[in-house]
Amino acid sequence: MTALADILAARIRERGPISVADYMQAVSAHYYAGRDPFGVAGDFVTAPEVSQMFGELIGLWCVDTWRAMGGPARLVLAELGPGRGTLMRDALRAARLASDFLDAAELHLVETSSAMRERQADALADHRPSWHTRIEDVPAGPMLLIAAEFFDALPVRQFVLTDKGWKERCITLHDDGFAFVADAAVFDLPWPPSALGAIREISPEALAYTTWIGRRVAQQGGAALVIDYGPSHSGAGDTLQALKEHHRHDVLRDPGTADITAHVDFAALAHAASGAGARAHGPVEQGQFLHALGIEKRAARLMEASPPQAATVAAGLRRLTDPDAMGSLFKALAIADPALPPLAGFA
Ligand SMILES: C[S@@+](CC[C@H](N)C(=O)[O-])C[C@H]1O[C@@H](n2cnc3c(N)ncnc32)[C@H](O)[C@@H]1O
Repeated sequence: MTALADILAARIRERGPISVADYMQAVSAHYYAGRDPFGVAGDFVTAPEVSQMFGELIGLWCVDTWRAMGGPARLVLAELGPGRGTLMRDALRAARLASDFLDAAELHLVETSSAMRERQADALADHRPSWHTRIEDVPAGPMLLIAAEFFDALPVRQFVLTDKGWKERCITLHDDGFAFVADAAVFDLPWPPSALGAIREISPEALAYTTWIGRRVAQQGGAALVIDYGPSHSGAGDTLQALKEHHRHDVLRDPGTADITAHVDFAALAHAASGAGARAHGPVEQGQFLHALGIEKRAARLMEASPPQAATVAAGLRRLTDPDAMGSLFKALAIADPALPPLAGFA
């Protein structure tokens, strides 16, 4: 048993089964607190770590959107869960073409892990970022916010359809490990009729983030760009997964040693943002979004500038945009001030 497994087991013995959301929250916090999980030697590779083109194009998207906002003299440039800081570093390097944007941008990073904050401090030292634990602490003003592979780490609640109705799926102790169990309470939930045993997920935390973002950009101006993995339309299914050393890992085994995520429900996020007064653009598939922003041209430039790197650049382009790789499962969604015109990549 891991140290976290012991803590969770003691809590279940004392207070009974815990919800999937509480389990996911505890596992994710423990996992990120103690490690840098990125890269070939880690557990997974995210889009900004695949190729510099990803962050660069997002930097140009920020410049373009800032201009559409009227180019405010002070811009809150925020990122949720910046990982190693690679995306923002590449974005700000690309944005050097627009020195007025760089003069306006004030960098704010929302990050709970101190191990990750150290990596971000190294990557972004030239840009003097401020860190926050909660999105609510990001200072007021017109804002551009980026969240890449952040929402998939937010806890989901799971419900399972039993012969009595929808019940919350929880985690209990079984033999010498953990097991799923349906809680006793029955919930009246608005989902279409499903087969017995069907599972549905909701992420109250993700909806709270998008509601906050929607209200903020509608009232103070700006936009948020959310890139993550998940379907365009809400549906049934257990999408909870853990990754360790680039392979699927049993979510209930050795909690805290593998990255735990769930599909992002883009339709639900768009609905929450619209309900808060913002306009949702997309979601569109990541491949389509990056093509619209000119990834092929950028790749050609990089290959021309450094022919020995051509194969690496081509591999990055394929991985980011190919429907069989990240191009289709990953989506881009913008949550914007309704006064803004159609945004780059979503037209
Ligand atoms: C999968 S990584 C994504 C990193 C980066 N955006 C990228 O694409 O490479 C998730 C990041 O979110 C952070 N994180 C996870 N849960 C968080 C929370 N509730 N609040 C703030 N940061 C969180 C992690 O520490 C990590 O930096």
